Amino acid sequence: MDGMHFTPGNDWPEADALVYDDAVKARTDHLYPRVKDVITPMEWPLFAPLIDAINRLKVERGATILAHNYMTPEIFNCVGDITGDSLKLAQVAAEAEEDVIVQAGVHFMAETAKILSPGKTVLIPDMEAGCSLAASITGADVRAIKAAYPHLPIVTYVNTSAEVKAYSDICCTSSNAVQVVEAAAAQWGVDTVIMIPDQYLAKNVAAQTSIKILTWKGACEVHEQFTAQDIDDLRAAHPDAVILTHPECPPDVMARADFAGSTGAMAAYVKDNSPKKAILITECSMSDNVAVENPGVQFVRPCNLCPHMKRITLKGIYEALRDMKHEVHVDPEIADMARASLQAMLDLPRLAAPPHFDTGKAPVAVPYVAV
Ligand code: 13P
Ligand code: SF4
Repeated sequence: MDGMHFTPGNDWPEADALVYDDAVKARTDHLYPRVKDVITPMEWPLFAPLIDAINRLKVERGATILAHNYMTPEIFNCVGDITGDSLKLAQVAAEAEEDVIVQAGVHFMAETAKILSPGKTVLIPDMEAGCSLAASITGADVRAIKAAYPHLPIVTYVNTSAEVKAYSDICCTSSNAVQVVEAAAAQWGVDTVIMIPDQYLAKNVAAQTSIKILTWKGACEVHEQFTAQDIDDLRAAHPDAVILTHPECPPDVMARADFAGSTGAMAAYVKDNSPKKAILITECSMSDNVAVENPGVQFVRPCNLCPHMKRITLKGIYEALRDMKHEVHVDPEIADMARASLQAMLDLPRLAAPPHFDTGKAPVAVPYVAV
């Protein structure tokens, strides 16, 4: 193989010109065993040059890569420095030591990182990596809700724009939603909170607490596709499997599962319990990444792809770092207001492990806000 040598600086080649030579092979061989069950030997030479270039560029640029659990396995396992669910990535973004954060996740996650670390350069490999929940509600909508319900706290899912967070009282993720709802109600001295924009998360949380909830008509386009019939069919086909769902799924889906929780909670459940067979009702890459950590567990993979998460590729990460491009900016005034909502969430006591939802709870009526 011909060697190709790159000198640090701005002379990094186009992604297509990176080659799998002896030097790249030597620098990446230690990574392959980790992903051998989810990346074939034929694919590896295509990924390895980009993985090597990204890992070298990270050092050169003083960058850290935060990778969400829905990233493809070559990103998650081979270039991600910190991996996890939305809450963990937000906590890490607030504490990161590096000057540059590359968000291997969707836009609201990169905005969250920028809001929590305003002095850092935050890059996202693709500015179009959105989210159906974030697109379902605007800052003007939240102002209208606030005007209609001035006496109720607004708990906002992190899967929203900076402006939506700015007009909210506190943020939550699926890893702390029940804790946040109960804390907000206690702090405001009320028995009802507004939880936006995910109607299914709101309904699933309402079944876990005595606090009453009003919600918004948003939904995750990935999780809302799963049906109760899907779960019944899977149960019939795989009676020996543990079925795990994400709380962005409709309540009748969650009710049929054995376990429900954030992506972090699902990963922790599989690690702690080592079921013989597991079915993760969530985004497709999640099973690949949990499988890497748990080689003894067999996975059935009835997943739905998130088209937004899948916009993040090794090539995009490489180009973002090479050219220091796709920098995320947030209006400073909006960022200050949004930071207060995020900080209110981060200031709550940290739970030792991501909690799960009790799937056996009876459904509760959750009306939409009237605005
Ligand atoms: P969590 O990682 O917080 O469970 O969120 C899942 C998700 O859909 C993020 O977009
Ligand atoms: Fe948004 Fe759903 Fe995709 Fe997560 S999986 S980014 S909630 S559309």
